Amino acid sequence: MSAPVVHLSRRYWFAASHRLYADALSPEDNEAIFGKCANPHGHGHNYGLTVTVRGPVDAETGFVMPLTELDDAVRRNVLDLYDHRYLNLDVEDYFHLVPTGENIARTIWQRLSGPLAGRLERVVLDETRNNRFEYPIVGANL
Ligand code: NI
Repeated sequence: MSAPVVHLSRRYWFAASHRLYADALSPEDNEAIFGKCANPHGHGHNYGLTVTVRGPVDAETGFVMPLTELDDAVRRNVLDLYDHRYLNLDVEDYFHLVPTGENIARTIWQRLSGPLAGRLERVVLDETRNNRFEYPIVGANL
């Protein structure tokens, strides 16, 4: 009998500020599209980040993967770079990419897809109590 496959999800938190502003658009268009999120000096969120990995349950340990290993991958590749930063100016990922929830979720997935190769299933980013972003969409081409 082959080992059962299980999803393991773990939640992380980071605080970061951002400004939604597209350099290619005029200030007026930015304000029309992004509203107060385009304010010059940015604003912050306490982001919730849920990372899901999948894999066979190890017969000996009973783990899909050790939590310390998952924690290390997320800390080194995301939290150490993003936590308490102004994403637009401090994090290279967003020098030329608007740090919307959509783009942050997708970028975090890309960052983790190497370290968690073959195991990373999904990234869920909670930006506010009301906004949640998930990547990738189940069944979609990446
Ligand atoms: Ni925001």
